[in-house]
Amino acid sequence: MKVLLLGKGGQVGWELQRSLAPLGELVALDFDSIDYRADFSHPEQLAETVLKVRPDVIVNAAAHTAVDKAESEVDFARKLNATSPGVVAQAAQQIGALMVHYSTDYVFDGSGSTPWQEDDATGPLSVYGQTKLEGEQLVAQHCARHLIFRTSWVYAARGGNFAKTMLRLARERERLTVINDQFGAPTGAELLADVTAHAIRATLQDPAKVGLYHLVAGGETSWHGYARFVLEQAQAAGVELKASPAAVDAVPTSAFPTPAKRPHNSRLNTAKLQSTFGLVLPHWQTGVARMLRETL
Ligand SMILES: NC(=O)c1ccc[n+]([C@@H]2O[C@H](COP(=O)([O-])OP(=O)(O)OC[C@H]3O[C@@H](n4cnc5c(N)ncnc54)[C@H](OP(=O)(O)O)[C@@H]3O)[C@@H](O)[C@H]2O)c1
Repeated sequence: MKVLLLGKGGQVGWELQRSLAPLGELVALDFDSIDYRADFSHPEQLAETVLKVRPDVIVNAAAHTAVDKAESEVDFARKLNATSPGVVAQAAQQIGALMVHYSTDYVFDGSGSTPWQEDDATGPLSVYGQTKLEGEQLVAQHCARHLIFRTSWVYAARGGNFAKTMLRLARERERLTVINDQFGAPTGAELLADVTAHAIRATLQDPAKVGLYHLVAGGETSWHGYARFVLEQAQAAGVELKASPAAVDAVPTSAFPTPAKRPHNSRLNTAKLQSTFGLVLPHWQTGVARMLRETL
């Protein structure tokens, strides 16, 4: 079996390089790859690459993820998040490949407090959310054999992340202020990559499993709860901090105005994914604690 991975250098792409490798021959590309071109700002390149590689499975982890920047570069964000995934989906359909794509909690308007289900009405608040919604719609429309995973608050051990920023700030300052009115589940790139590999195998065996799924770690928290948990873990590991967990002050979203509006309720209901694939999604604290043990 041949697997084509697009966006291999991102948080999720990096972990997918590991989790997809045992499935077969892996062709992993980024926007500056030389053997095959895979720059999402040139959609026509992508069709050519898919037709040349002729994979059985395509996993697209490339995206425009700079949520605030997207507000001022709408066309570019749309190209990366919608047009290009749509072109990949068309090419996938042409060669009969299964296409895996990722989307986001930002497709919802964040109202209420009930975890969103896959078929709930969408209502993106930002350009990022709108273009990601268009992307998932194009993928579903053009490629019958698709798996689309909506996820939230992604972190990875590699590169920068919210937890590392909180740790740095807690070493530098005596008090931190963190938002406490946005709720979701921090989800590890490792978990996303592992579940993706399981889901691919299951879907190749049972084609009826294609579709849209919510995929996040178990439980929920706010950014404030997340920050406190990170500092508690660091303290327990003997890291010297100027700001203790108790010195993390809770503030509303309005205290940190940003160009892009974020949803308050980012909770995603994962029952469909867990029952369809027979998988268990570990609590968010398990993954964050593990990532901290790797990086502290
Ligand atoms: N991060 C989150 O909190 C979050 C939340 C919900 C959903 N998601 C979704 O999850 C998926 C993976 O996200 P992630 O966190 O792994 O994002 P990421 O770390 O920002 O990775 C995105 C990847 O896209 C690549 N890319 C950027 N411009 C490109 C271009 N013109 N052509 C080809 N590739 C390009 C990046 O390359 P460079 O690194 O070289 O720029 C990187 O490899 C995305 O679909 C995202 O929308 C993410």
